[in-house]
Amino acid sequence: MKDMNIKIIGESPALQGVIRAAGLVASADVTTLICGESGTGKELLARLLHSKSQRSTNTFVALNCAALPEPLAEATLFGHRKGAYTGAADSQPGVIKAADGGTLFLDEIGELPLSLQAKLLRFLETGEFMPVGASSAVKVNARVISATNRDLYAEVQAGRFRQDLFYRLNVVPLQMPPLRQRLEDVEILLTQFTHSFATESRLAPPSYTKEALDTLRSYNWPGNVRELKNFCHRMTILLSGCLITVDNLPAEIKGTRHAMREGFSLLDMGLGLNEMEEELIRQALLRADGNRSKAARALGVSRDTLLYRLKKHQLG
Ligand SMILES: Nc1ncnc2c1ncn2[C@@H]1O[C@H](COP(=O)(O)OP(=O)(O)O)[C@@H](O)[C@H]1O
Ligand SMILES: [Mg+2]
Repeated sequence: MKDMNIKIIGESPALQGVIRAAGLVASADVTTLICGESGTGKELLARLLHSKSQRSTNTFVALNCAALPEPLAEATLFGHRKGAYTGAADSQPGVIKAADGGTLFLDEIGELPLSLQAKLLRFLETGEFMPVGASSAVKVNARVISATNRDLYAEVQAGRFRQDLFYRLNVVPLQMPPLRQRLEDVEILLTQFTHSFATESRLAPPSYTKEALDTLRSYNWPGNVRELKNFCHRMTILLSGCLITVDNLPAEIKGTRHAMREGFSLLDMGLGLNEMEEELIRQALLRADGNRSKAARALGVSRDTLLYRLKKHQLG
């Protein structure tokens, strides 16, 4: 199936750099590993690679390795012969065979059980594998693109991922930047998502005050583009045709703005950075009902960073 409509929105240099690299990689038919946080557009990029490759008229098969049920994982991936195990009433070709001639997208590759990693490596090196219960190998020509939101190299160091497979998958690495590192893309994403949701549901699109837009542009978007897309969907449905102000924004997004304002007024009162940090942490904890993970998210830092600062301010 040829998908001509894949469009990766964003004009930031960080995103444009990845898209340019992807353009070079697409036609090279090499194994590619896409890294990046959840919601940054890894699957979208994989589909773009496929659509720009010579394989674009063949299938794109996506498999989420985190959703593979362990006892059936091998058969799901490599297929099985009739009677290979109890309940295997028919032969099944498996996901790799389904991608023959096309592209196989292995999402969350870091979750692939160790037991299957060797078998996948063998397929990548020889183009062949043994279905469960089969007596001869099957040959398949598929390009493998994998994605991970983990630091796969750290997984290798920790012994949870095979080093040889890591190098084999990582022939060409592509890194999707988190949205908070390209906040200049927020406005164009917002405009285009809002427009397409409004058109799709035949609603008048909402618009945003400058202050609301500024708030969206200073939020840290922990769920990345997926979070922004869902936000646009919700706003289009709930506030179709309205002018959205800061008051209409969800609490977690508004939080950024309030923290900033209170921060500035604290400075006006002549308080130092340390006191300001302590006060922001107090407010974040209060608003999160003492939940530290939530408070850390509201502050745009990791939980570890928050724990460290709690200790520093003797708040813990
Ligand atoms: N730059 C972008 N332009 C348009 N849509 C995007 C962009 N990045 C992500 N999306 C959309 O956001 C959602 C999450 O993207 P996805 O590729 O599934 O992320 P990941 O695989 O990294 O979790 C999808 O609906 C995708 O189409
Ligand atoms: Mg994904």
